Amino acid sequence: MKRTILITGGAGFIGCHVVRRFVGKYPEYIIVNADKLTYAGNLENLTEIENKKNYKFEKTDIVDKQSVVELFDKYNFDGVIHLAAESHVDRSIASPDEFVFTNIIGTVNLLNAALNRWKNDFEEKLFYHISTDEVYGSLGKEGLFTEETAYDPKSPYSASKASSDHMVRAYNHTFGVPALISNCSNNYGPNQFPEKLIPLAINNIKNNKPIPVYGKGENIRDWLFVEDHASAIDLIFHRGKAGETYNIGGNNEWKNIDLIILLCRIMDKKLNRAKGTSEKLITYVKDRPGHDLRYAIDSSKLQKELGWSPIPEFADGLEKTVDWYLTNTKWLDRVLSGDYNKYYDQMYSGR
Ligand code: NAD
Ligand code: DAU
Repeated sequence: MKRTILITGGAGFIGCHVVRRFVGKYPEYIIVNADKLTYAGNLENLTEIENKKNYKFEKTDIVDKQSVVELFDKYNFDGVIHLAAESHVDRSIASPDEFVFTNIIGTVNLLNAALNRWKNDFEEKLFYHISTDEVYGSLGKEGLFTEETAYDPKSPYSASKASSDHMVRAYNHTFGVPALISNCSNNYGPNQFPEKLIPLAINNIKNNKPIPVYGKGENIRDWLFVEDHASAIDLIFHRGKAGETYNIGGNNEWKNIDLIILLCRIMDKKLNRAKGTSEKLITYVKDRPGHDLRYAIDSSKLQKELGWSPIPEFADGLEKTVDWYLTNTKWLDRVLSGDYNKYYDQMYSGR
């Protein structure tokens, strides 16, 4: 079946894996990647598919209503996979406004454009909103987030994502826009911007710089390899039901400090350093304000209803990730030039 699908944020970390997957696997689809190319968007992530006939790039700011309307007028989309967002919790604490603009207003602009184009015929249309487990707030030592867990976002980032989820559900309920949402746990893998824990730690270990561990390193995250997220998105886009929510997670909980130690061991091996060398770089720093203690996802609905399951063991996925960052030095150097050092100094000095 021919389709024209808008993927927003396709030059970012998860988006580029989704775009590459869809362009490669579905040559009969036209994939339009609309991205503003913020600091987190990088077209180098897409060089392997940029010349494919079924791929198009549009530099678009989703906060700009008129640009979004023009995009929908130019292409007759029948599907939207919406990933574009401001995604880093620390940045949302330093400067929340952009999170409100992009994550909330940007999402509403897309919903309005989809509603206006589709309102006379919702058949075979789908608005798929990519969200996060952080909307559910923070868990104690026990329990898992299910699709029924009440929303309780704690950071400006998660509050903005929660707002956008509510707007998507409201457009589905009130106007009938065929929309669905998935809420995923922490992703890791190639192409992640090195402001996030795993690539930041890999880069610091490589350069013999301190590895900043917030608080006591006891916060827990449920890690999922990014390609497993992309495979879930593929499945949900094609087989998920409008109006539904699907939780996606790795069933793979790690305390930050244990994860960093595992990463240090992998890095020692890869860099031919004596065992224990990288661990000496671990440095406890001031905690993130309002730091959520634990996230963990129950993805049984997705597993049972759509037959999804994640593939690599964490140690294998992590090793693949380390290999990618150690091989793709040019990518890393380019990403680290520009404003990265300024950001790093602002975020970590005085911590
Ligand atoms: P990212 O920060 O790596 O990429 C975001 C992309 O969105 C970038 O390419 C950026 O240029 C683009 N963008 C930002 N503002 C824009 C705007 N105004 N208009 C158009 N494009 C804009 O993010 P990511 O980690 O790939 O996350 C993608 C989505 O998945 C987000 O919605 C995020 O909330 C969600 N999510 C991420 C994770 C994770 O662990 N990274 C987990 C669950 C859900
Ligand atoms: O749970 C899904 C979310 O995961 C996504 O929605 C977000 O977009 C994504 O950024 C991620 O949020 P986290 O805040 O969990 O990810 P981050 O990599 O920033 O941090 C992971 C954990 O490591 C968290 O407990 C904070 C801690 N940390 C982070 C950094 C950057 C450190 O201890 N030191 C650091 O330098």
